[in-house]
Amino acid sequence: MLIYQYLLILVCLICCWAERVVVDWNIGYLEVNRDGHFTRKAIGVNGKLPVPPVYITSGDTLILNVVNSLDQPTTVHAHGIFQKGTNHMDGAGMVTQCGIPPGTNFTYEYTVEQAGTYWLHGHFNHQNSEGLRTPFIVYDTDELPMQYDEDVVVSLEDWYPVMVADRMKEVLDPTKPFPPPPTYPYGLINGINGNDTQVIVFEPGKKYRFRVLNMGSTEWFKFTLPGHKLHVIEADGVYCEPQEVDGLSLGPGQRYSAVVEAKQSAEFNYVYNATLFANFVPNLPGLNPRYYTGLIQYREGAPIKQVDARDDSEIVWAQDIKMQAFDRQPLLAGVSRTVSTIAGSQKFSDNVTRAILHKYPYMTPPIVPTLFSAMSMGALASDSEIYGPQTEAQVIGLDEVIEIVMTNDTPIDHSMHLHGHNFQITEYGPASSNNNSSIPIQRCGGYPMRRDTFVVPALHYIRVRFLANNPGVWLFHCHMDIHFALGLAMTFVEAPEVLQKTQSVPEQLKKMCVAQGLKAEGNGAGNQGMDLTGLPAPPH
Ligand SMILES: *[C@@H]1O[C@H](CO)[C@@H](O)[C@H](O)[C@H]1NC(C)=O
Ligand SMILES: *[C@@H]1O[C@H](CO)[C@@H](O)[C@H](O)[C@H]1NC(C)=O
Ligand SMILES: *[C@@H]1O[C@H](CO)[C@@H](O)[C@H](O)[C@H]1NC(C)=O
Ligand SMILES: *[C@@H]1O[C@H](CO)[C@@H](O)[C@H](O)[C@H]1NC(C)=O
Ligand SMILES: *[C@@H]1O[C@H](CO)[C@@H](O)[C@H](O)[C@H]1NC(C)=O
Ligand SMILES: *[C@@H]1O[C@H](CO)[C@@H](O)[C@H](O)[C@H]1NC(C)=O
Repeated sequence: MLIYQYLLILVCLICCWAERVVVDWNIGYLEVNRDGHFTRKAIGVNGKLPVPPVYITSGDTLILNVVNSLDQPTTVHAHGIFQKGTNHMDGAGMVTQCGIPPGTNFTYEYTVEQAGTYWLHGHFNHQNSEGLRTPFIVYDTDELPMQYDEDVVVSLEDWYPVMVADRMKEVLDPTKPFPPPPTYPYGLINGINGNDTQVIVFEPGKKYRFRVLNMGSTEWFKFTLPGHKLHVIEADGVYCEPQEVDGLSLGPGQRYSAVVEAKQSAEFNYVYNATLFANFVPNLPGLNPRYYTGLIQYREGAPIKQVDARDDSEIVWAQDIKMQAFDRQPLLAGVSRTVSTIAGSQKFSDNVTRAILHKYPYMTPPIVPTLFSAMSMGALASDSEIYGPQTEAQVIGLDEVIEIVMTNDTPIDHSMHLHGHNFQITEYGPASSNNNSSIPIQRCGGYPMRRDTFVVPALHYIRVRFLANNPGVWLFHCHMDIHFALGLAMTFVEAPEVLQKTQSVPEQLKKMCVAQGLKAEGNGAGNQGMDLTGLPAPPH
């Protein structure tokens, strides 16, 4: 009896603390000059860009009411949120739902038990690249690796002068050279031209948690705060033992939190330094890299402290392989399956070059979202063939330990994201084709760091592990939008038999597919059994 009473009190407490946070997003086009150079068509929310960040506390339920005022379908993904039990809220277009048709609405509703620095972004037709992206900060109620006084969100974006759809037209034109001539985006900090961003006010002696996000679609950012040390405590929503560094380097999709201790006196102001760069476009002063700075203001009008600029090679950068997970989760033992992937590209018979992670480019999706096939195909859901070759579905069992070995034989770094999970980062090394690596083999320590987006450097490999404890259908893809658009993606179909028993797909989501001439059940082609007639064929 007493136990029940305690339980009741506990449940009550949890109910009282947890809130329902309602956010209304009317997604539509606008003309906007974000970088101080170009006015262009973009996608914003409620007539504005940047999209205001969303703040909740761990345990809260987010209710995101989306009205689609575009002339194309849309979806919204919460990057890094596991969606345990709510796979159909993951927002991955044609993987976990059909797009929300133009002129209609849909409500995303899910409870977030994680904490940390995430982001919300469009996940249909690469709409995140058009501006549909914003930080999603989940405050914690648990013990942190380091206490701090205030949060400072620094969201970083690359911003191109043209829409991704127009860039894709060029990339997919077989008469044009591949790769296309380089383009040089501008950098945005907290949604506006990087050099125009508001000053960051510091009070002497206080501790600030910088939450730095790369919400970019293609390029990398480096972030330093010369004259101050950064104590990294979080990568992609996972806490680590504090790691003292000078700088953060982030691929598209990655996030870090670093606690910065303010100086004891307000004698000087300082500048922070954000650098937008890519190792796959030519180094041209002023174009790549592009430098952005902003003021750390201790006192209005105080002189700026001159800190000697240091060469990048002398700077200590945050490294996930060297971090230790704060919760001391040991290396997952007993790998039951190794998935070997090779990032590459191939010219097909139509003379179009596409990207491949395994065998096929995932460009044209199936007619049925893969989740809906997994839910409706009974025992056949365990047969990877039914989903269509483009999905490269890997069917994995409940509680299997999966190791992904990804080899990057390209001269381009890739930033890879898995939905529904994070990975233990266990090893980096040179690809076997690479006899001139600057990075030796590096292995994790006893409590490997976990994160949801890793960077596999050019001509190197990475090994990561994850535990299949989240039945569902989860996309694994490059977060550089052109690569993703060219097919650098595959899917994990996790414990479909458990999924069928424990989750269901709302009728409204099924109707959305039918309303667009797509299908809500059957194999990838919307048929029964192994008949894939009508499935968009992968290129040959
Ligand atoms: C959402 O759509 C329903 C009908 O499908 C309509 O009744 C409702 O007013 C719409 N809500 C908004 C905010 O547009
Ligand atoms: C931003 O300002 C810094 C400092 O004045 C300057 O060096 C840099 O070139 C500017 N960046 C851009 C992209 O204009
Ligand atoms: C700013 O960062 C870039 C890239 O890390 C570096 O080359 C440059 O020297 C930095 N500037 C200062 C003033 O620290
Ligand atoms: C592909 O390119 C080759 C060489 O330029 C050309 O001969 C061939 O006709 C092209 N094929 C197609 C399908 O465009
Ligand atoms: C490295 O590989 C390249 C290309 O395969 C080859 O030309 C070169 O001789 C190799 N160098 C060494 C030191 O093995
Ligand atoms: C090996 O790499 C270094 C830099 O990491 C570069 O300077 C050098 O040219 C490379 N050598 C060859 C043979 O590719």
